[in-house]
Amino acid sequence: MKTAKIIGLGSYFPKKTLLNKDFENFLKTTDEWIVSRTGINERRIASKNETTSEMGYLSSLKALEDAKIGIKDIDLILVATLTGDYIFPSTACIIQDKLKAYHAAAFDIQAACSGFVYALTVAKALVEQKTFKNILIVASEKLSSIIDYQDRATAVLFGDAASSCIVSLEGFGFEIIENYIGADGKMAKLLIMPAGGTKNISTIQTIENRDHFLKMNGKEVFKHAVKRMHESIIKCLKKASLNERDISWIVPHQANQRIIEAISKKFKFLPSNRIYMEVVKKFGNTSASSVGLALEDLKINKKFSNNENIVLTVFGAGFTFGSSLLKFKDNK
Ligand code: UT7
Repeated sequence: MKTAKIIGLGSYFPKKTLLNKDFENFLKTTDEWIVSRTGINERRIASKNETTSEMGYLSSLKALEDAKIGIKDIDLILVATLTGDYIFPSTACIIQDKLKAYHAAAFDIQAACSGFVYALTVAKALVEQKTFKNILIVASEKLSSIIDYQDRATAVLFGDAASSCIVSLEGFGFEIIENYIGADGKMAKLLIMPAGGTKNISTIQTIENRDHFLKMNGKEVFKHAVKRMHESIIKCLKKASLNERDISWIVPHQANQRIIEAISKKFKFLPSNRIYMEVVKKFGNTSASSVGLALEDLKINKKFSNNENIVLTVFGAGFTFGSSLLKFKDNK
């Protein structure tokens, strides 16, 4: 049986850059604090026209070009986002319209920062059981629309961006060997936007309470992120009957350099420079988009060898978490 693979990657970043220094003008913070506690130097902020769907659409065009397939070849669009254009319809439908891919089915996946790996898991199953041929995954986030720029503990962390990929049985790229995904709903309140859904509908009161912004217990989220990403890598490798000596790279969710360093310490046999953390510096935490951006960045900068194993690992609100084991296959 053929294995599903990622045959193309594409990304989109808004032009506007917010530097750490810029926050010093309106928050009690410093560049030094942000760099030492997070590793983040700057992040991108979308303009009004750079909606989640528009960034997703533009990154999709690049992924299609990279995969060398046309819009007509896509038969399913999966969008991973927690900042969709609307509560409904899905952002997948808005992107389908922008692409004029009216022959394709379309739906959203809501797994917060873990969305990319959740979408890869769904896409692998659907192409391998031949329900769909070519699936477009779009992870796009306009986090600046839900960030409280009066809250220094969260304002400095997040940025906007989109990352797309094409999953297919045909072509070359990253074989999706195995996935592991999980969730822990007991922790839902530790990372949440309390209002704007159907439980706490929008009222003047919810706006005055600033409940339409992301709220996070940073310390708790940090601890669970390290633990869950580490465990999910081990579980994913075990499903594939492999261990840490078999992997060349870990590409983690790019939320905080200290989280990545803490995960790195748990892998004795993998040199720390094999845990990729370049993207968090330049773009901050871009939620569902982040691990796709990191994979593409790594591919461009480091050049994989044939048959190298790469593990993506993610963690996000829910809590949700997971890992994907990929094997690089070039076209020679
Ligand atoms: O995608 C998954 C979701 N998110 C994450 O993975 C983020 C997880 N959490 C984190 O990355 C870290 O917990 C943070 C970066 C959010 C915070 O780092 P920390 O080392 O856990 O700091 P802290 O929350 O313990 O705060 C230490 C101090 C506090 O002051 P006091 O109470 O000691 O006086 C904070 O008020 O730092 C203060 N602080 C700041 N100071 C300057 C918090 N944010 C800032 C800031 N600038 N931006």
